[in-house]
Amino acid sequence: MLDALRELETKAQAELQSASDSQALQGWNQRYLGRKGALAPFFLQLRDLPREERPLAGQTLNQVKQALTAALEERQEALKAGERAASMAAEAIDVTLPGRAPSLGRLHPSTATLRRIYAIFADMGFQVYRAPDVETDMVNFELLNIPPHHPARDMWDTFYTTREGVLLRTHTSPGQIRAMREYCPEPIRVILPGMCYRYEQVTARSEMMFYQVEGLAVGKNITMTDLKGVMAEYASRMFGEGRTMRFRASHFPFTEPSVEVDMDCILCGGEGCRVCKYTGWLEISGAGMVHPVVLRNGGYDPQVYSGFAFGMGVERPAMLMHGVTDIRYFFGNDLRFLGQF
Ligand code: PHE
Repeated sequence: MLDALRELETKAQAELQSASDSQALQGWNQRYLGRKGALAPFFLQLRDLPREERPLAGQTLNQVKQALTAALEERQEALKAGERAASMAAEAIDVTLPGRAPSLGRLHPSTATLRRIYAIFADMGFQVYRAPDVETDMVNFELLNIPPHHPARDMWDTFYTTREGVLLRTHTSPGQIRAMREYCPEPIRVILPGMCYRYEQVTARSEMMFYQVEGLAVGKNITMTDLKGVMAEYASRMFGEGRTMRFRASHFPFTEPSVEVDMDCILCGGEGCRVCKYTGWLEISGAGMVHPVVLRNGGYDPQVYSGFAFGMGVERPAMLMHGVTDIRYFFGNDLRFLGQF
């Protein structure tokens, strides 16, 4: 019996060494140590041995069982360590590589310019009022004193939707009507920023979409001097102290009188250059006193209330300040351009 036991142990040890995964180990465990395994019959045989042989045989049997159990555990550990080492090698991270900096986004030049404009007007008490990009013909034109077939519509040709009378706003002026109808009869001091759209030939100087900032002040005793003061303050805060302004007579159906607001050219200081087309002046805004018809459409009695309004581009001043020569860069989504701001 002892020889057979030794032989079994040698065989079991050899087999264990070639078991290479946990499933093989489990099978081995059943085959040798399990209830019906190869060792079990030896325990039964003990009883049939002569009394004097039993202690040695019993001792040996227990030793073999312990040795095999210990060998199994050792093998299990070794396999586990191997698996761990393999997975660590497979998922290795080279911590000595320099990190990749996350690329930080930045503000679009139009957004940055808009925010500067908000800050300047906020200091003068103007709140931002949001009006929709998609407008009705009624608010974009008619309530602004531009009836159908009015020749002024040529200047503001736009994109029409498939819904009758619904279009993309051509200017931020329709927001005047919305603000007045919301605030009436309270006094108003708002700016209305937003995207505008026009059906136009796209060139270096004109896009089919662009930002505008509208301004509107309505109250009692508001006069053109208020408009002039606000424009002058804006120009010197935006473009530098001591700017010279001029009002030039113009026409808009929704203001009376109407003006173009010019400022001395920031590039040549009024001498005349390519940017100001040798006039010495840069146009910064259309403006005027809110037309009585428009006041009434907004709910205000023009006998009691008056107001001024202005509307200016955002990309134009951004171009001036950054020396950008083509307005199409703003919405071309070219990172080489946008990354410079
Ligand atoms: N809405 C005019 C435009 O787009 C600008 C303007 C606004 C003029 C307000 C006067 C008053 O050209």
